[in-house]
Amino acid sequence: SSLDAGPSNFVDGACEGTLACSTCHLIFDENIFKQLDPVTDEEMDMLDLAYGLTETSRLGCQIC
Ligand code: FES
Repeated sequence: SSLDAGPSNFVDGACEGTLACSTCHLIFDENIFKQLDPVTDEEMDMLDLAYGLTETSRLGCQIC
């Protein structure tokens, strides 16, 4: 799948993956979004603050 193709740390946001920012906000295609691990409560709290939040938004630093 396309998820297997990328490097393991493809997103670095301002807080370097500590869920203290939302600069790593990514919007996925729905078919890819469905393959990702579930969103944790901690990620959701920070996602809520992301600009332009969508149904298929994730914080990139939590994906890999
Ligand atoms: Fe800050 Fe992802 S890098 S929440």
